[in-house]
Amino acid sequence: MREFSLLVMVALAASVSCVDNWWKSAVVYQIYPRSFKDSNGDGIGDLNGITQKLSYLKDTGIDAIWLSPMFQSPMYDFGYDIADYRKIAPEYGTMEDFDALMAAAKKLGIRVILDYVPNHTSNESDWFVKSAQRDPNYADYYIWAHGKPDPKNPDYVGPPNNWVSVFRKSAWEYNSVRGQYYLHQFVIGQPDLNYRSAKVREEMKDVLRFWLEKGVSGFRIDAVNMLYEVDPSNFNGQYPDEPVSGAAGLTPEDYDYLSHIYTRDQNETYDLIYDWRAVLDEYTEKHNESKIMMTEAYTKLPRMMRYYGDQTRNGSIPFNFLYLGELNNQSSAREIKTVIDKWMAYMPAGKVANWVNGNHDQSRLASRFGTDRVDAMNMLALILPGISVTYQGEELGMTDGYVSWKDTKDPQACNTDDPVNYWKSSRDPARTPFHWDANTSAGFSTSSSTWLPVADNYNTVNLAAQMSAAKSHYKFYKDVVAVKRLPAVRSGDLDVRALCESVLAVARLLPGHPVVIGVMNLSDKEVPVDLSSMHLLPQQLQVETSGIKCSLEKGAKVQKENVTMPSHCALVLTSLQKCC
Ligand code: NOJ
Repeated sequence: MREFSLLVMVALAASVSCVDNWWKSAVVYQIYPRSFKDSNGDGIGDLNGITQKLSYLKDTGIDAIWLSPMFQSPMYDFGYDIADYRKIAPEYGTMEDFDALMAAAKKLGIRVILDYVPNHTSNESDWFVKSAQRDPNYADYYIWAHGKPDPKNPDYVGPPNNWVSVFRKSAWEYNSVRGQYYLHQFVIGQPDLNYRSAKVREEMKDVLRFWLEKGVSGFRIDAVNMLYEVDPSNFNGQYPDEPVSGAAGLTPEDYDYLSHIYTRDQNETYDLIYDWRAVLDEYTEKHNESKIMMTEAYTKLPRMMRYYGDQTRNGSIPFNFLYLGELNNQSSAREIKTVIDKWMAYMPAGKVANWVNGNHDQSRLASRFGTDRVDAMNMLALILPGISVTYQGEELGMTDGYVSWKDTKDPQACNTDDPVNYWKSSRDPARTPFHWDANTSAGFSTSSSTWLPVADNYNTVNLAAQMSAAKSHYKFYKDVVAVKRLPAVRSGDLDVRALCESVLAVARLLPGHPVVIGVMNLSDKEVPVDLSSMHLLPQQLQVETSGIKCSLEKGAKVQKENVTMPSHCALVLTSLQKCC
């Protein structure tokens, strides 16, 4: 018996890794390489540009950068259409440039997370070309299907079914080499891989290993809930039509015209994600680093939560898109609290939360919430437990730039064929170049011609100006990033209160450490705030940092019953006494 317990103990010790989950309370900064910094004056951002700016990110306190795809690609979807997963797009640099970026980041202690785009490749990928040629090694790499003859027009063979691309119009494209249609849930140049093929599953694991070998710290995984389509063997070998959703004002060419019961959220998806987690775990001991895996799925909350893992297997950290979908410039403190509570309530025990304020697919934070709420929303994402994800430029409160129809590049907007209303679908405004300073092209490029125009307000909204101003969104952001390092924010309990319709307070409590409280006034009136209803809050508080609309400055002392909050002020307080 004694031998047996010893054996169990040894086995347990061997399976429990002592490698720290560095990402548990990390600030992850998303870089859209095309728009971050252009080092060679061609108007397109590149890897060397990112390397040049790493010291800025270090100084800001960023833990990890997530690079949107910089792999070889014809750029129909700006890198989300990958022709070779193991090569760098020449317009972004070379593999040597990537290695140099990795080395510089490592020196500064910044981790690098890559974008892994597994749902589709480019139609210029060798795999696709060979699959179209029915090369036996690649024949089943993609979703191929025969067209459906049109009874009214015997000369015309139409798409296999009614499926629609996220970017509008049929999700099927005819390939004359193969004599079949292929599925593309995004642009025509993005054929969907077939995850019912064991070869594809192995191939894609090797892609992960290739970059892990290069020392990356993890992945952001694209469009995971679209990885599997319904199994055609359950439908006589056919892919069935999707039912009409009934949503008003749409045509059969619009994505939301259908309910995507056969192309999204298929059960098989979760195991694939857990398999990928296991691939990342192969490197934990080897690199003495726990790898991060964050997944992108715009889906219902209960489905999102399944990505975290199940009873037996670990999964990913599903991006929390609730801020993006459920909150806006009108949201009250109660509504914001409800959204926070919702994530925390659904999240399985022991898992890590995350807070996403923006990304390259969404209108910018300052445009969605209004400039007045930038400090509040940045503070919230940083002070809540877990990972904060910042899209480049949100720390400055950059707004969406104006991009004319003529300058529009986003396939989602181009596919509307509508020079008047295209902007409603365009993601270009959130992708305009980063504002470094007030020089040519906002300091993004030495060229005055950039791949997307620089937003008009770069003269006033730029990093250099915000660094030299007494108060700025950037300075506040940086201060709150430093607050995120405090023990209570790293691992303390959470108490969120909507103290009235317009005031939200978030406290983080850890015994033996000062309490940290973020308070925000969302209204355009000054509000006297009484924090005494907050759990275990000591009497005396001190201002740790304050946003641009606040009058209380760092170091000012206040009593918890009496905190004056000017309109749109976002304030971080710490208690003078220790908790609790
Ligand atoms: C999600 C990415 O964020 C988006 O930019 C891209 O267009 C689609 N997935 C397709 O890869």
